[in-house]
Amino acid sequence: MRSPLTIALLLTTCIGAYAADLPDPLEDRDFLWNGAPSPELSELGRSLFFDPILSGNRNIACATCHDPALGTGDGVSLSIGEGGSGFGPERVTQDGVIGRVPRNAQPLYNIGARAYTSMFHDGRLELDHMGGFPSRLRSPAKEQLPEGLDNALTAQAMFPVLSAIEMAGQPGENPIADAVAERNLRQAWRILADRLAANPGYAQQFVTVFNDIETADDIRFDHAATAIAAFETVAFRSDWSRFDARLAGWPMTTTEEAGLKLFYGKAECSSCHSGPLLTDHEFHAIAVPQIGPGKDQGSDGSYAVHSGYPHRVEDQGRFNVTGEEADLFAFRTPSLRNVALTGPWGHNGAFASLEDMVRHHLDAVASLASYIPAELPALDTVIQPVRSRAGVSYQALSPMKRGTYDLRDIWVHSSERLRNEIARANTLAPMDLSEEEVSRILAFLETLTDPTAIDRSYLVPTAVPSGLPPQPGRDDACLRDSHSLAGAKALPGEAEDLPEPRCVGRGDNTQH
Ligand code: HEC
Ligand code: HEC
Repeated sequence: MRSPLTIALLLTTCIGAYAADLPDPLEDRDFLWNGAPSPELSELGRSLFFDPILSGNRNIACATCHDPALGTGDGVSLSIGEGGSGFGPERVTQDGVIGRVPRNAQPLYNIGARAYTSMFHDGRLELDHMGGFPSRLRSPAKEQLPEGLDNALTAQAMFPVLSAIEMAGQPGENPIADAVAERNLRQAWRILADRLAANPGYAQQFVTVFNDIETADDIRFDHAATAIAAFETVAFRSDWSRFDARLAGWPMTTTEEAGLKLFYGKAECSSCHSGPLLTDHEFHAIAVPQIGPGKDQGSDGSYAVHSGYPHRVEDQGRFNVTGEEADLFAFRTPSLRNVALTGPWGHNGAFASLEDMVRHHLDAVASLASYIPAELPALDTVIQPVRSRAGVSYQALSPMKRGTYDLRDIWVHSSERLRNEIARANTLAPMDLSEEEVSRILAFLETLTDPTAIDRSYLVPTAVPSGLPPQPGRDDACLRDSHSLAGAKALPGEAEDLPEPRCVGRGDNTQH
């Protein structure tokens, strides 16, 4: 009898025409901790990832935006962060939010791969051995980032907790947000570490897991970040797709194989989507249209002049990190693993269909010109700071002022001049592909889906040490109302077994 390996080798010889271009399969050693951090460490990270305790107002967790049942994102173009309630596309903002998160929540599949030396769509956090920072990491925290962070993924977990719009909340609401507003980042991390230390469940786990922690007082936030990174490495590894089987020599259908041939050949997708993660980890401008408010870092003042809000709208991507003209509107090539699960697509979720995202690549400039902005989740109540001698308070923006406020979401795309700037930066040459070729490529992209990644909601713990409801809460009343679950007929006798409905949000969170 032939061994599976021999059969695999035989198959490779028969269908191996593109073998030279195909990457090697992913292996344990391609991942941090060689893919196997201690179970105690990643279990601690798991609690932290789903526990709202890491947010200033204790009302949002990492997993609220990186939901393991929603492709490790949140299923919307632009996330609703701190202050929202409910989950995924049903997340609402009646209690008031300060604005939208300006970019699409990135998927976390295989984010523990060592090849990720930069984080975020613009790589603003990256390993930098030459940069002169003691942490060996270049990041928005500059010299405040502690030394001894082992890798970019661990360092990344230090940041969402500092973002007012994502997790920290607004100054005046809690001491973490206050510290961030004063740019005292070390103080913000200190307060969070103290919070964890004050919780007996967490304190015990930290003492057990880390050799350099003897008592709860020794807990630092970078310990928490390490545990989160360990969890992400294990939980979101995903290399059980049919593409992986193909890399090991197993065949695909004729259409998929034709798509693979195009991807690695004529269509030149692999010139950027290369390697086992289908990304070169580089930054390219491909004229994805802008929707949403941007990061208040652009150079254009036209919105500010028109609206009176001192807000800059264009998201210039990598340019904001390097200041190099060649990086204008460039974003990191995304990994295409599980890409069918991770919509909406593009750095701001501009494309609601995978097919439209792929077609955009065929003639990026024409696609930009004919693009119709995708609908963004409604912002029911936008709050704005009102400063007085007594301090800062927050008031809902009046309907009269909402018009000019909301314009920021479509300002860039509505401006021919700004659209032209995005078009001018484009580096993707038009390519000629027939309808049939496009559908073959799409068939190939489907082979990148790992069936075990479709729904990993089993990762959500039933309880976390803080005693707060873990997020996302699948049995949440906010979800049940609007999901198909509501329509599904409960079997007789089942109804009373359903857990108590609860909505998590600013409104019903009393533990400040
Ligand atoms: C409010 C939504 C939100 C929350 C909460 C959130 N994230 Fe994110 N996450 C995002 C968005 C949006 C991005 C992309 C940001 C950018 O490029 O500017 C991102 C990017 C990332 C990345 C970078 C991935 C890559 O490919 O470079 C990682 C890792 C990550 N988040 C992990 C976390 C962790 C860990 C937490 C909790 C400590 C967290 N996130 C909390 C929305 C969120
Ligand atoms: C010049 C480099 C380059 C080439 C060539 C290229 N891409 Fe991309 N691709 C990118 C970049 C950069 C992005 C992200 C752009 C953004 O969000 O602004 C992207 C985004 C995508 C996305 C969306 C992924 C997500 O998670 O949002 C898909 C799908 C995709 N590309 C498929 C393809 C296919 C199929 C081909 C070949 C027809 C191709 N790409 C060729 C650079 C490239």
